[in-house]
Amino acid sequence: MVLKGIRKSFEGLVALEHIDMNVSKGLITMLIGPNGSGKTTLLNVITGFYTPDRGEVIFEGKNITKWPPHKIYNEGLVRTFQIPQPFKSLTVLENLVTAYRENPGESFVKALFRKSWIKDEEEAVHKAFKILKILNLDHMWDRPASHLSGGQMKLLETGRAIMSGAKMILMDEPASGLNPKLANEVFSYIVKMKKELGITFLIIEHRLDLALPYVDRVLAMCRGRIVCEGEPKEVFNNPIVVESYLGG
Ligand SMILES: Nc1ncnc2c1ncn2[C@@H]1O[C@H](COP(=O)(O)OP(=O)(O)OP(=O)(O)O)[C@@H](O)[C@H]1O
Ligand SMILES: [Mg+2]
Repeated sequence: MVLKGIRKSFEGLVALEHIDMNVSKGLITMLIGPNGSGKTTLLNVITGFYTPDRGEVIFEGKNITKWPPHKIYNEGLVRTFQIPQPFKSLTVLENLVTAYRENPGESFVKALFRKSWIKDEEEAVHKAFKILKILNLDHMWDRPASHLSGGQMKLLETGRAIMSGAKMILMDEPASGLNPKLANEVFSYIVKMKKELGITFLIIEHRLDLALPYVDRVLAMCRGRIVCEGEPKEVFNNPIVVESYLGG
């Protein structure tokens, strides 16, 4: 995903200015910055909740600037809160299979041929089990979703998003409110989804010490601009970043 010259203001307050950035496919990028530096605003611009005053959002070669959020979601660029709730009465496996979505242009013609319909069904089950294994939910495949714990429910939600074609997932502080053990678990699953399913992640996180071992790239923002980007070590040794954090 590429951003070119993004600017966003709210009645005179410039929240984002000259944002150029590149979120590498298949990697975990962490977005950091002091309170009010524009991180959430940037996610809102990327996912279509805010229209930028200027600039472009390019995803997988398509210019998606000013597209409505649901259309961007269908393109595979997903904000976690947009993911539909699992159906509690369906089993874990059924929840994934029902989320499976075919290329809409093809499915009508395909629907006329029962053979290909069965093949799609097999493909869906195969993909579902692969995802369930990664999320450590495979042993629960035939249980109703209502039997899952809160954490497992969140994983199932993410699994449904991936089944329906999510390519890049954006998260605003996924570890907030979790104890360190759970937070580490969340990040371990994120790494597994990246490695085994090739999902791209863009994550805002305040708990740097906790997230750092898991991320590939860091983008640091300050006052609406990207002030530094690179490998985690580089960014954390950068004097501008140190100052913008410590100097408030
Ligand atoms: N809908 C809005 N209307 C007016 N101002 C807004 C709106 N959304 C964000 N802002 C302003 O834009 C600036 C950036 O806010 P933003 O929420 O993006 O910061 P942030 O980096 O996510 O901060 P935090 O770490 O506290 O979540 C702030 O000054 C904020 O008040
Ligand atoms: Mg925020």
